[in-house]
Amino acid sequence: MSGLAVSDAGRRRIAVLASGRGSNLQALIDAISAGTLEAELVGVFSDRAEAGALQRARAAGIDAVALDPKAFASRNAFDAELFARIDAAHPDLIVCAGYMRLLDAAMVDARPGRMINIHPSLLPAFKGLHTHRRALEAGVCEHGASVHFVTADLDGGPVIAQACVPVPVGDDETALAARVLAREHSLLLETVRWLVEGRIVLHEHHVHLDGRVLDTPLQLTANNRFA
Ligand code: GAR
Repeated sequence: MSGLAVSDAGRRRIAVLASGRGSNLQALIDAISAGTLEAELVGVFSDRAEAGALQRARAAGIDAVALDPKAFASRNAFDAELFARIDAAHPDLIVCAGYMRLLDAAMVDARPGRMINIHPSLLPAFKGLHTHRRALEAGVCEHGASVHFVTADLDGGPVIAQACVPVPVGDDETALAARVLAREHSLLLETVRWLVEGRIVLHEHHVHLDGRVLDTPLQLTANNRFA
């Protein structure tokens, strides 16, 4: 069993993939600058030049790269260039934080245990898009977010950790999305922290915590720690 590659004796190197506003990226930036996450952000990569995440990266002095999918003949050609750029930054861990494009399976398969994604639902429920609307339509009383290892199966990789929020009667999509997002930031930070500490690894398609198979995802408690 092996954890993240160690590039040197120091901090783990993290690359972030993001398509949107970048609030999860900002949580990583803030935690690193506050000294509560021992890691280094080595690049932010996007399929949208106007993504807020890129502006946040630049403001923090992090390399920000945008590639236009329309400039490539195929999805595979786009992903080949994207991952060539990512590899050039030598990340130990790749975090998908609001990255909204499907990834080429070969690229994902080549990086087992080194890519994670944050998804706004309690997986395996509500894979894909419009998760908050679909949760409300389904009448669930509990919703939330998950962090999982990325595999070729969209939103289907082994789940590491989750944060739950209640769904009160009469809730609306905007309020629910905000309630989930507020928990996402702590969920992502805590998961990344345990990954860079080497406590969480992917081994033979299962999440392992401290050397043992994790039977159920870690749960973020009200004080933003794992139970
Ligand atoms: C987050 O809610 C994240 O869970 C979601 O996009 C949002 C990005 O917000 N990701 C997905 O839907 C991936 N399928 P942010 O840009 O403010 O971090």
